[in-house]
Amino acid sequence: MKVTVVGAGNVGATCAQAIALRGIVNEIVLLDIKEGLAEGKALDLWQTAPIEYYDSRLIGSTSDYEKTAGSDVVVITSGLPRKPGMSRDDLISINAGIVKSVTGSVIKHSPDAKLIIVSNPLDVMTYCAYLTAKKPKNEVFGMAGILDTARFRAFLAEELDINPKDIQALLLGGHGDTMVPLPRYTTVSGIPVTELIEEDKLNAIIERTKMGGGELVKLLGTSAWYAPGTAAAQMVEAIVLDQKRIFPVCAYLEGEFGLNDIYLGVPVKLGKNGIEQIIEIDLNPDEKALLEKSAASVKEVMDVLDDMKLFE
Ligand code: NAI
Ligand code: 2OP
Repeated sequence: MKVTVVGAGNVGATCAQAIALRGIVNEIVLLDIKEGLAEGKALDLWQTAPIEYYDSRLIGSTSDYEKTAGSDVVVITSGLPRKPGMSRDDLISINAGIVKSVTGSVIKHSPDAKLIIVSNPLDVMTYCAYLTAKKPKNEVFGMAGILDTARFRAFLAEELDINPKDIQALLLGGHGDTMVPLPRYTTVSGIPVTELIEEDKLNAIIERTKMGGGELVKLLGTSAWYAPGTAAAQMVEAIVLDQKRIFPVCAYLEGEFGLNDIYLGVPVKLGKNGIEQIIEIDLNPDEKALLEKSAASVKEVMDVLDDMKLFE
């Protein structure tokens, strides 16, 4: 198995390391446009192998897509991250061009690869990759929900003073401030979380989750990378090991949840074919309204992509 990670910055390098530590692939190619960066990080990670006892071969490349040829999975993290004061949507004018050109080069050399998009604004960059790749929708999808639910679970674990492993959570919608954490579908070892925490505390955690990316941008001066890179690696693992895991993933919707022609976070089954099923769950009227609001805000950013006329 061979995996390529495009973008050897904070998220890409962390993702490559998390894949290597899992010991699930033979080869990991890290590619970046910045001369020497990917080669340097790949070499550093390869020199970690004798210490961590992993045996995935790590290879770096400055814009040489020949080295990525025949990849089974490609993770695209190339693009600008947020700086303080910016929203994810502010990144579109630069990142859409990057995602389009990178996806074109990736597909030329790895036509059968499953594509995991990470670059922001996530839902619209995934749509941009889908339009470029012209691949089946189950093979092009985005990472956000694993990260956003991890934040929700981490905050809940802290508040309840319990192990985060025991928290299962679900979240729908776009990767932005309108994301929709679903307390009704969140449990602690099977116990509904709503039975364990007071409503006002739960609401405060939901709000903190929605702003979770921004909280880190304020602290770091750029966006987060440990949880994002590891979340993408968890998706790679589900695909290469055909684990058929159920995760919230940014997927193309054609009627599911009453929504059409949009990439949005929904629960899916992830295995060797990529998205093997979109799982439609019952939503109450409040949850449905929040999902529709989130979809409307993603559509606004899709309109900005349309106005860029990259696909005419
Ligand atoms: P970074 O700045 O550390 O790394 C980005 C890398 O992309 C840089 O090394 C840059 O040289 C490279 N790059 C730019 N244009 C390229 C091209 N045409 N070909 C190849 N490489 C190119 O940024 P970071 O922190 O790694 O974030 C990457 C992206 O991921 C950002 O757009 C960020 O907003 C997004 N992100 C998304 C998350 C999600 O949940 N979906 C979470 C965290 C970040
Ligand atoms: C995050 O949620 C900014 O999308 C990035 O950390």
